[in-house]
Amino acid sequence: MPLERFTDRVVIVTGAASGIGRATAARLAAEGAKVLASDITADALDASVAEALAGAAPGGEVVAHVADISDEDQAAGTIAAAVERWGRLDALCNIAGMLKTVRTHECDLDTWKRVIDVNLTGTFLMCRAALPHLIESRGAIVNAASTSSFFGHPWMAAYASSKGAIAAFTHTLAVEYCKEGVRVNAIAPGSVTSGITNNVEFPDDLTKDEGKLVRRIMSPTGFGDAADVASVVALLASDDGRHMTGEIIRIDGGTHA
Ligand SMILES: NC(=O)c1ccc[n+]([C@@H]2O[C@H](COP(=O)([O-])OP(=O)(O)OC[C@H]3O[C@@H](n4cnc5c(N)ncnc54)[C@H](O)[C@@H]3O)[C@@H](O)[C@H]2O)c1
Repeated sequence: MPLERFTDRVVIVTGAASGIGRATAARLAAEGAKVLASDITADALDASVAEALAGAAPGGEVVAHVADISDEDQAAGTIAAAVERWGRLDALCNIAGMLKTVRTHECDLDTWKRVIDVNLTGTFLMCRAALPHLIESRGAIVNAASTSSFFGHPWMAAYASSKGAIAAFTHTLAVEYCKEGVRVNAIAPGSVTSGITNNVEFPDDLTKDEGKLVRRIMSPTGFGDAADVASVVALLASDDGRHMTGEIIRIDGGTHA
């Protein structure tokens, strides 16, 4: 029997056009959620919505919403779109993110700022706009941290810094809003097949010794599917996670065990 933990629940999933966000939108719809599936990329988002709708449980709905989470007005507009459509918000899954790899001493300021703007500031903007509604529903936030939040991942300084900050942000919100009944948790994926991992490029002039460092971030059990992470997002966003807040769950096939 499929779980039906999200019947009559309204959920926003960012990054829904690809990878973990796409799998999360599909998973939540399959559990009966009304999902506002959001992403900056319109074409791929439509395909995600069609896929999620095909597997949606009775009562499940999925609508596309194109927005850049790093833009203050667009982030607020994303929350407003869900609340205007369904009258409430029960969970916000902040999955959107981007990765740029470069030697740190060669990282230009625009690259650094864009990664921080999307991964960290975008998550803040979404949470800020969602919190009044989540306080009303005693809802949940699930943020996307990373194994790079806690372990050294070379050539990813901006990305890892943004994800380390997501861990701190998640802990802070969990304590700040616990009395209002809002739970705030995060996932820390690693070695999961997605747009980010398919397109990752390491500096092309790596020495043999530097090349060995790549193993630090590769799972000994191979890559996982985005659905393997979506199931954990669903747990954290659902009542099954009701006694969990301020937790960051590593899902990396044992890479950092
Ligand atoms: N795949 C992994 O192994 C892994 C590991 C650690 C963390 N993560 C995190 O998981 C999350 C999902 O990534 P993924 O692996 O599915 O990658 P992905 O590239 O498949 O998906 C990321 C999505 O975010 C969207 N996005 C990027 N910038 C955006 C913006 N400004 N506004 C709105 N949407 C935007 C992209 O268009 C894309 O659809 C990210 O936060 C990523 O950092 C993934």
